Amino acid sequence: MKAMNTMDGDIDDAVRILRRGGLVAFPTETVYGLGADAANVDALRRLYAVKGRPWSHPVIVHLATGSPAALAPWAQAFTPAARALADACWPGPVTLVVRRAGGVPAEVTGGSDTVAIRVPDQPVAEELLIRFGGGIAAPSANRFGRVSPTTAGHVRADLDTDVDIILDGGPCRVGLESTVVDCTEHDPLILREGALAREEVEAILGRPVPLRTDGSRAAPGTLDAHYAPSTRVVLVTDDEIGSRAARLVADGQRVGVLTQHPNAVLPGGVEVLDAPGNIDELAHELYGLLRDADDRHLDVLLAVPPAPVGIGAAVADRLSRAACPPALERAP
Ligand code: TXA
Ligand code: MG
Repeated sequence: MKAMNTMDGDIDDAVRILRRGGLVAFPTETVYGLGADAANVDALRRLYAVKGRPWSHPVIVHLATGSPAALAPWAQAFTPAARALADACWPGPVTLVVRRAGGVPAEVTGGSDTVAIRVPDQPVAEELLIRFGGGIAAPSANRFGRVSPTTAGHVRADLDTDVDIILDGGPCRVGLESTVVDCTEHDPLILREGALAREEVEAILGRPVPLRTDGSRAAPGTLDAHYAPSTRVVLVTDDEIGSRAARLVADGQRVGVLTQHPNAVLPGGVEVLDAPGNIDELAHELYGLLRDADDRHLDVLLAVPPAPVGIGAAVADRLSRAACPPALERAP
């Protein structure tokens, strides 16, 4: 395995590795992806094995452009809503779920008749996709259920020698995954909140776009419990953070707090994670802060979710999934 600040030759190496069925970790503007040739079933199988991901969880196909020619091997003709979002947002942090073309491997689609597609907005990813020329299937480059990586160092810590090359593009610009929009029906639906705020999706389409809250449309791979550090995460309000921390400390627990408004008087020994007050910055830092909680060997992290407005909705979503005990995982 090689890891480095990406240079030209590294991208050529990565393309060769993809062509022979290997796994390439690469930066995107959202999080690092673990890439495999989306047309190579053996490579896809290895991808699932390394991630420890169930077969039923489909993966996103990353493309260099959203032109009709580039899309043709993967998707049927886009609905008007899908086309409007692709034109307005790509390259960028929105993933469109659309009807798949014939011949897309079931390992990509989870066996469904839909496929998720995204054109990332990151120079290393773009160059890799252009030189490779095909679709790169890429989930986030972390083990299943764990915190997504936003630096090459996170990828190395999680996957180490299980990945054939790590392209280092520095810290990801956004730091949270793409927004997933189901465009298979006439009325689009948000399957996963993410880097592109729901308000922006609605402004582009000129109508309300609901968040999927029930089983009305398949959203395989969206579990209640996800994105979790080893530290137990508990959601609290700013008003109760001091008393909750005091009780846990009295119980002998190692406690940390994550809040944008650290006003409470806290008992000695409580570790205050440095949560930025600006919501874009918090989105950018969130996964690093969750990893930080583990590095500090905290037993409990008391976290105050931000208001669910703009990208704050995705931050609040990830915190609530991090706080969901695995025992409550909902089967897809
Ligand atoms: O920002 C991102 O989206 C990152 C970067 C690497 O592009 N990728 C990412 O992939 O977050 P992953 O595999 O961790 O999450 C993909 C999400 C899952 O919630 C999955 O269920 C959904 O997309 N998805 C993929 N294909 C789908 C399909 N055909 N139908 C419904 N949901 C799908
Ligand atoms: Mg993921």
